[in-house]
Amino acid sequence: MKKIICETYEEMSAVAAFTIAVQVQVKADSVIGFATGSTPLGTYKKLRELYASKFVSFSAITAFNLDEYYPIKRDNPQSYYYFMWENLFRHVDIKPPQINIPDGSAVDPEMECADYDAKLMAAGGTDLQILGIGNNGHIGFNEPNEKLELMTNLVKLAPDTIEANSRFFDNISDVPAQAITMGMGGIFNSKHILLLINGEGKAEITKKIFDGTVTATVPASLLNLHPNVTVIMDKQAAGLICD
Ligand code: GLP
Repeated sequence: MKKIICETYEEMSAVAAFTIAVQVQVKADSVIGFATGSTPLGTYKKLRELYASKFVSFSAITAFNLDEYYPIKRDNPQSYYYFMWENLFRHVDIKPPQINIPDGSAVDPEMECADYDAKLMAAGGTDLQILGIGNNGHIGFNEPNEKLELMTNLVKLAPDTIEANSRFFDNISDVPAQAITMGMGGIFNSKHILLLINGEGKAEITKKIFDGTVTATVPASLLNLHPNVTVIMDKQAAGLICD
């Protein structure tokens, strides 16, 4: 995996945003995999600026989001659908029919997962997949386990994920217990994966993904097996690894 260590979160966000923008400049109809969470917020802010300054247009891209809580309604401010519209989509010229986000209010979540995979496969996978990482090493909502799912699936969130994500909700009991997530196969079916990591709190898990081993108990460690991964970190996240 290629490492880029940045001085600050702002610098890291700019490097990530330019990487995405250049991908879209080179291939206007790129399929981009988007992630949520606090990590990519700076990247999306920079992308909005790049769009406003006419550096990039998203009019021909197709978007696939990694995951969504289940059950959750799209108009719930904690939904990832809402997050993507608030932080990126409503500010740029992406075409709404080209946006794919798992539907957290689907009556039949298994069918929703199968439909999502069919759309992702029909699009040929992603050209660029943005990823964050959970404190426990999850990517998307692929939680540490002895077995990992390849396909989009309905998962039960790990207690530490529910606790970590409760900071966005009024009460921990409001955090949905499940989520629909792209599986490891969907993530790996990307030509270029961009893993973003920031903050001292992620230093331990960052060390684990660079320790020379792979294990399903640290799902992000499997990214070592993908041929084209760029990890963009700030100094704090990279604090326990050797450059
Ligand atoms: C969530 C998302 C992940 C994200 C992770 C880290 O649970 N499902 O896609 O990478 O949390 O979030 P944060 O960036 O807020 O640390």
